[in-house]
Amino acid sequence: MHNLIKRAAADLAASNHAIVLTGAGVSTESGVADFRGPKGIWTTNPQAEAQAYQRYERFLNDPKAYWEEMLDTVGSGSYFYRQMREVAPNPGHHAIAHLEQLGIVKCTITQNVDGIHEKAGTRNVMHYHGAVEKLRCLSCGSRFGVDEYSLEKLPPLCRCGRPLKYDVVHFQEPIPTDIMDAAEEEAMKCDLMLICGTSAVVYPFAALPAMARSRGRGASGVKIIEVNADPTPLTHQGISHYLIQGKTGEILPLVVDEVGKLLSQRDKHE
Ligand code: OAD
Repeated sequence: MHNLIKRAAADLAASNHAIVLTGAGVSTESGVADFRGPKGIWTTNPQAEAQAYQRYERFLNDPKAYWEEMLDTVGSGSYFYRQMREVAPNPGHHAIAHLEQLGIVKCTITQNVDGIHEKAGTRNVMHYHGAVEKLRCLSCGSRFGVDEYSLEKLPPLCRCGRPLKYDVVHFQEPIPTDIMDAAEEEAMKCDLMLICGTSAVVYPFAALPAMARSRGRGASGVKIIEVNADPTPLTHQGISHYLIQGKTGEILPLVVDEVGKLLSQRDKHE
């Protein structure tokens, strides 16, 4: 594993436009359960997953009922989301922020709605599946802070008069076009993609690595590295060049240490 950590550090140090893709696995060491790991939300409660598939349609058909369900403190709705807002970054989040501060990582595209990357200091974060602290209007695309609304009168309404939903993207819901376009642009221009803590089975997010890889080899080519507890379809299909198997909170800080050594050696030679 140590060789792979050194390899990843060398690849990162040599890159011009590295981006990071993250999933729920980066937050498990902060105490937020993932979805499909052994203690995952869907693994341990398949009924919650079935319920989650209904949510988008519920909003479209009956926004008030959607909000009542989301605010049900016993269910997985806002109780879960409120809990998430309390959570602190772990060494994996800090390592990603550090790579951005070093000027190596240009953008972090996350499926996580928890907002922990920002708490760790990462500035350029794209929330592919939305953010827990925001509400979004499906009609005009406006987003508002959840704290701007008391949520006493349901559903909350946008300034354009349409009902707001959580910014969080539910199953069956299209990815907001601003985010989708920006993420695809990053996939098409990055020369390194570091994919951390995702099972890479939920689309269209999971298509971003193949999209980057489709640019081929040579000058326009991309290096794709996974850091994950288990192999994923990206590993099995050879979309990633290599997998560093283990915990992001342990591996990413070691990668950052190695990057630091390489950069200081480079400085000495310049
Ligand atoms: P998953 O739960 O599907 O995958 C998390 C991955 O991280 C699994 O492969 C775990 O083995 C791995 N993992 C867990 N802890 C780890 C750790 N400390 N270090 C490294 N790897 C670890 O979560 P996502 O891929 O994020 O979407 O799931 C994608 C989407 O499915 C979510 O955004 C959510 C969900 O349904 C929506 O809600 C729309």
